[in-house]
Amino acid sequence: MSQYLTEKVQEKRKAIDLSHHLSDLSRARATSPLKGLARYFGRPDLISLAGGMPNEAYFPFAAISGDALVPDSFSLASNQSESSLSWFWKLFGSRKEKTTSISIPKYPATKDDITLKVALQYGTATGLPQLQKFINELVEKIYQPAYSDWTTLVQTGNTDGWGRAVTTLCNPGEAFITEDWTYPSALAGSAPHGIHPVGVLMDDQGMRSEELRKLLAEWDESVRGCKRPHVMYTVPVGQNPTGVTMGLDRKKEIYDICVEYDVIIVEDDPYYFLQMGSYGAKLDRASQAMHADPESWLSSLAPSYVKYVIDYQGRVIRLDTFSKTIAPGSRLGFYTCNPRFAERLERAGEVSTQAPCGFGQSLIAQLLTTWKYEGYVRWLQGLAVQYKSRRDFLLDALREEFHMQVSVGTTSSWKGCTVYTASAKPKTGSSRMLEKRAYGSKALFSLVPPTSGMFVWLKLHFENVPGFQPDEEPNTMEMKLWVKLAEAGVLIGPGRYFASDQEDASPVDGHFRIAFSYASEEDFTKAVKIFGEVLREFFQEQ
Ligand SMILES: Cc1ncc(COP(=O)(O)O)c(C=O)c1O
Repeated sequence: MSQYLTEKVQEKRKAIDLSHHLSDLSRARATSPLKGLARYFGRPDLISLAGGMPNEAYFPFAAISGDALVPDSFSLASNQSESSLSWFWKLFGSRKEKTTSISIPKYPATKDDITLKVALQYGTATGLPQLQKFINELVEKIYQPAYSDWTTLVQTGNTDGWGRAVTTLCNPGEAFITEDWTYPSALAGSAPHGIHPVGVLMDDQGMRSEELRKLLAEWDESVRGCKRPHVMYTVPVGQNPTGVTMGLDRKKEIYDICVEYDVIIVEDDPYYFLQMGSYGAKLDRASQAMHADPESWLSSLAPSYVKYVIDYQGRVIRLDTFSKTIAPGSRLGFYTCNPRFAERLERAGEVSTQAPCGFGQSLIAQLLTTWKYEGYVRWLQGLAVQYKSRRDFLLDALREEFHMQVSVGTTSSWKGCTVYTASAKPKTGSSRMLEKRAYGSKALFSLVPPTSGMFVWLKLHFENVPGFQPDEEPNTMEMKLWVKLAEAGVLIGPGRYFASDQEDASPVDGHFRIAFSYASEEDFTKAVKIFGEVLREFFQEQ
């Protein structure tokens, strides 16, 4: 019987002891003496003269109230115009947004109330108990961790989550494993600590397992200048910047290699609920309705690494954030990991942020407890449909602007995927001639439609720019084109910003990351037109 099945059949075990991964910094952390007093705070008969707490009578907020959208504000039917016209309805008031009021009083009316007395006071790094309870329910029902003593802990968003995790696990001079292309702030956060990334080649599911095994098996400390990495940073869903998503089988393969080489996985997963399925032609979309039943929808999502079929040892630190599902300004997220790591991360939190901001915690906790688990899941479903419509709109607009040839990928990174390769559409001529010219014209860029997240990743074919020199300085073409686009009024992400190895970005394969998460349909349409004109000029395809 496989290890996974054996684990499933048996009673859930506790996480194994992985404390040998802790960094010197993390081991040296003691409990903050003042925070150590906090465990007495809940006692009703306690007269506290110990802490430097301001009396809540001096908090100028008597209550905080707000209007929150209702969980089913966004339809489950894929209907782009509903979202894009919402500004119009709001402006003219003909279809008002449906809201529910939430209010946080300073003092409790019942014992379970979220109050400003507590939320705005000094507290522990574990955050508001009501929020913790909601988060635990979410993790238990959705991610379904494999071991019994999994623990959650609030943080101030995944950037902070990774920042704290990397210094808790790595010493200066060490390396960590990551995807070849990755989230730049994760690199910028670890670099000043002298902790550097080692990229692993990717394909349409993200990190390639055979490449990971090769890297670890062939690691030569004397050549690399540091010991074999024992930490991985990965973005497995709607990967930033490439948009790819890793399925269960690949996750199991990667996990098994991490068990074999004793590697801790830090799973940064902000786009988990923005899994939207494949991109299809307009006509096919009606038949691709989202699963209306929340449970079927949740079980259709690629599972987290912490799920019972994968992380049976407790070697994954999962990072969740409310940035993409509620609002980035909430600066709120949470870890799910083994209790030993959670305790060390808590120690790191209590001497830096102390705890996430009380305004954000109380508002989000009140919103979530008002919506309840079912309401939040319904909200998330609605968001997934919104992002799907946005992705479809952008890809449709690119297909309008360019001639797109559809093929099955043959390169190692896109093997077997549906690849769209764009060439310039001729501007004038008879339709027969246009077709002929379009067919014969050169490739400008290629893409694989993403199935999750917020980004479309373009591979530019600079080899088709007249006068292209293969030995030109790396990234020069990419930046030249990027500047031309910026000057023409369209700002997109230059691929080089996302390279895990800044030295090794290939000059031929320039890349751009386009976010479909923010702009209006009108702006997308304008931007794609400008993109088309600038590209035609750059590739001299008039
Ligand atoms: C992979 C990844 N991690 C983290 C973040 C930032 O998350 P947070 O706002 O929670 O710090 C982003 C946002 O762009 C991201 O793409």
